Amino acid sequence: MRVIVLGSAAGGGLPQWNCGCGNCHDARLTGTGRTQSSVALSADGARWVLLNASPDLRAQVAARPELWPRGARGTSISAVVCTDGEIDHTLGLLLLREAATRFPLYASAGVVALLDGEWPVLRVLSAYAGVEPRVLPERAAIALADGAGRELGITCTAVPVARRPPRYAPRATAATYDVALRLVDQKGATLAYVPTAGAVDDAVRSVARGADLLLFDGTFWSDGELRAAGAGAGADAPTAREMGHLPVGGPGGSIELLPRLGAKRTVLVHINNTNPILSRSSSERAQVEGAGIEVAEDGMEVEL
Ligand code: MLT
Ligand code: MN
Ligand code: ZN
Repeated sequence: MRVIVLGSAAGGGLPQWNCGCGNCHDARLTGTGRTQSSVALSADGARWVLLNASPDLRAQVAARPELWPRGARGTSISAVVCTDGEIDHTLGLLLLREAATRFPLYASAGVVALLDGEWPVLRVLSAYAGVEPRVLPERAAIALADGAGRELGITCTAVPVARRPPRYAPRATAATYDVALRLVDQKGATLAYVPTAGAVDDAVRSVARGADLLLFDGTFWSDGELRAAGAGAGADAPTAREMGHLPVGGPGGSIELLPRLGAKRTVLVHINNTNPILSRSSSERAQVEGAGIEVAEDGMEVEL
């Protein structure tokens, strides 16, 4: 199985358009930005599955020959799986509107409802080639397939992770929105993909156990990071935990807990532009690396 981190940043990207924090400033000066969260994977190297559809999808596809069209028109992107209904993981669906046929979209029942309701992506896209929503069952493996129903050689198990519904849907009913994914090819190579997790709990443990690669939520270093950066709504900015992101640092943070999960390799993804681990010379980055955990880069490729 081939895995490519297309985008390693959280919502907003690096630099974020309206952010003047040190990381965003440095990224502007040095041209070392990061695009928003997405991963591509393939069992056969020819047909690819996108894990989340980033607002930066167009640039991400342009940067990867694997994802370029075959022939006059066409695509090697065979399906999309969304782990949540947040803007940074779904806006890219609109950018696939030129597709010739309905695009298979795998997501939890709660996310399919959001995309058919408060955030009407499915309705808008129905005027184009359209999207075929396929609801991910909870805690049961399914074989991913392309639009014609041909299996892609990868099974996917979605496990609900606790998190509130997106900010645009405050009145959404209790349902499963965010999921962690365990993706396994026919040789048993296993990717655990957990871009948002408020805790390292049984759900995360079941997805990560024995995985060859764990891609995990690296959004924030500390709970009060957004507030300290004067970001979001300033003093009213939510904490990392309120947003459903377990901080990387500090007591009970993910660098303390992830090494116990037994994944062969652990890499942080969905990194917010305020996170000090983005600076290679920071003490926080040294702590992450000291724990045997890596920080993803855009374009990082892993063969499992
Ligand atoms: C998140 O992952 O917490 C969301 O994407 C935040 C956002 O960009 O609104
Ligand atoms: Mn996000
Ligand atoms: Zn910033």
